[in-house]
Amino acid sequence: MAANIIDGKAFAAKVRGQVAEHVARLKEVHGITPGLAVVLVGEDPASQVYVRSKGKQTVEVGMNSYEHKLDAETSEADLLALIDQLNNDPAVHGILVQLPLPKHLDEDLVINSIAPAKDVDGFHISNVGLLGTGQKSMVPCTPLGCLMMLRDYHGSLSGMDAVVIGRSNIVGKPMAQLLLGDSCTVTIAHSRTKDLPDVVRRADIVVAAVGRPEMVPGDWIKEGATVIDVGINRIERDGKNVLVGDVDFASAAARAGAITPVPGGVGPMTIACLLANTVTACCRANGLAEPEGLTA
Ligand code: GUN
Repeated sequence: MAANIIDGKAFAAKVRGQVAEHVARLKEVHGITPGLAVVLVGEDPASQVYVRSKGKQTVEVGMNSYEHKLDAETSEADLLALIDQLNNDPAVHGILVQLPLPKHLDEDLVINSIAPAKDVDGFHISNVGLLGTGQKSMVPCTPLGCLMMLRDYHGSLSGMDAVVIGRSNIVGKPMAQLLLGDSCTVTIAHSRTKDLPDVVRRADIVVAAVGRPEMVPGDWIKEGATVIDVGINRIERDGKNVLVGDVDFASAAARAGAITPVPGGVGPMTIACLLANTVTACCRANGLAEPEGLTA
């Protein structure tokens, strides 16, 4: 049986459309334009590409984009002063500090200086705690995108066995919390997990987020399982640079019921969810109803 391909590119376009509708309503009915501030420190080329893409998509859905580019030698005090200014700016509803930061800056300190209500990355310790206790929070964008695709495909996830491979703070851990919140039985697997193939073979849902090219072969996948591949790995194959996921797509697609491709799966959902989180933050800041279907 050939797997259904979960088209993240199309899904992300749908989410951006929903965001744009909410933004239009906020402007027309309430005279409010959601604003997202993105802070980039230094000249990391990959980060520059991401930040440009975030700014472009923010404007395309009708929101205000505020880009702050600081040089690589910026002091911690100057960065914290900028964040304080953004925390207190009523036109800014979401703040994102692009990671990684240059080595002399303390990432935890910087992230935890963002006002939790404006932390559209969902990385602030308060949001991590709120998510872990099942309370309303800002949810990290990549796992939120994965959850949206799973809910869209399955409807209810209740009672399903889910395995998350990878225990990062950005993807693995919040993904596990979200799946638990939707009443899955959740296992977090990682590099020290004993008998990883058998653990994965039990899963109705596999989320692979380890950053190792094609480490999950098809014969680990239960017949009919849903596979969400978060990996974006650049490798050389047949003399060409190609992008591959953490899952061996061809062999996994032969066994899975549904699978996200790389590229065109989870990747496009991350920025779409950042835009969704910014609208959510804006609605909460103004005491308005949150957009339906765009939050966890
Ligand atoms: N760098 C790579 N991915 C991300 C992300 O999701 N958020 C932030 N702030 N930085 C990143």
